[in-house]
Amino acid sequence: MNKHLLSRREFNAGCAAFALTLPIISNIAAADQPAPELARRTVKFPDGTVVPALGQGGWHLGQGRHPVAVETEALNMGISLGMTLIDTSGNYGHGQSEQFIGPVIAPQRDRIYLVSKVEGDEIEGDGIARACAASLSRLATDHLDLYLLHWPVPSKHFPGIVAAFEKLRAEKKIRAWGVSNFDVGQMEDLMRVPDGHRCATNQVSFSLNDRGIERDLLPWCAQHSMPVMAYSPLGGDHHLVISNPTLMQIGAAHGCSAAAVALAWVIRSGNVIAIPESGSPEHTRENAVALSLALTPQDIQALAAAFP
Ligand SMILES: NC(=O)c1ccc[n+]([C@@H]2O[C@H](COP(=O)([O-])OP(=O)(O)OC[C@H]3O[C@@H](n4cnc5c(N)ncnc54)[C@H](OP(=O)(O)O)[C@@H]3O)[C@@H](O)[C@H]2O)c1
Repeated sequence: MNKHLLSRREFNAGCAAFALTLPIISNIAAADQPAPELARRTVKFPDGTVVPALGQGGWHLGQGRHPVAVETEALNMGISLGMTLIDTSGNYGHGQSEQFIGPVIAPQRDRIYLVSKVEGDEIEGDGIARACAASLSRLATDHLDLYLLHWPVPSKHFPGIVAAFEKLRAEKKIRAWGVSNFDVGQMEDLMRVPDGHRCATNQVSFSLNDRGIERDLLPWCAQHSMPVMAYSPLGGDHHLVISNPTLMQIGAAHGCSAAAVALAWVIRSGNVIAIPESGSPEHTRENAVALSLALTPQDIQALAAAFP
């Protein structure tokens, strides 16, 4: 079956069906070999939409960190290896991230699950609708699959924000909405607002170097059947986990990189989507291996000890 010929709906349905019937297999192939198509991990949103458990972050893309052609190749490489969820924000590089991503995804828009964000200082009046229109224009698309409030604002604003998101959803400019950087108390406040329960996800920092949400938010989201979207899943620019000897050892045993092991750890529960960023095709190829990598209980134990 050629995934390139499928619409996103068909691909999602196929992934969901396969996820139900097939076990995730341990990846013992070399990192430069494509992951087995049918073993890729997926995550289901509350509305039934199924996405790959690994997406691609876009914070620094289109801003000169790598040459444009290299970043374009990296993004396309990730998409072709199944990392079809792409995360950006209206404020990344003052819109440059969205402007870079737009033309790359335009010819393949129906394969992409596109996520962008609105800022807390854009919520007054019809600010969310205007910010969304600007993002759609920069991304050269007529809809976002998911629109997130980037950072928490005081809870008194939640009813207005949810109403604005729901209006965009009714107008089909966004398919779903969610939040980012919310703690459990803020999630509880959100659930008390009319339609607050329609929140699709909370995007938060989560990696072996930042395990704070395991205490409260991760179990809270699991209880509410709400996937968590993990940003900085490799630890982010300043706390990258990939040089850790335990990660490297486990990677060597599975025939993959330390980065793939770190990402497989983040997405192992089935309720977490990780969005590593890379503007390097080689790194993107390494990262995609995590989609089909199953860590052993011994691996998990060793990582827990190495990253207490
Ligand atoms: N909601 C929020 O508040 C928020 C906050 C931060 C980030 N985010 C989102 O999350 C995404 C990812 O977060 P992040 O960029 O902070 O952290 P990250 O994905 O943990 O780390 C990115 C860094 O890792 C490097 N890298 C990626 N794959 C690698 C590999 N296989 N081997 C070695 N190095 C590798 C990248 O460099 P190369 O490009 O050279 O590969 C880059 O320097 C962002 O792009 C953004 O979309 C959201």
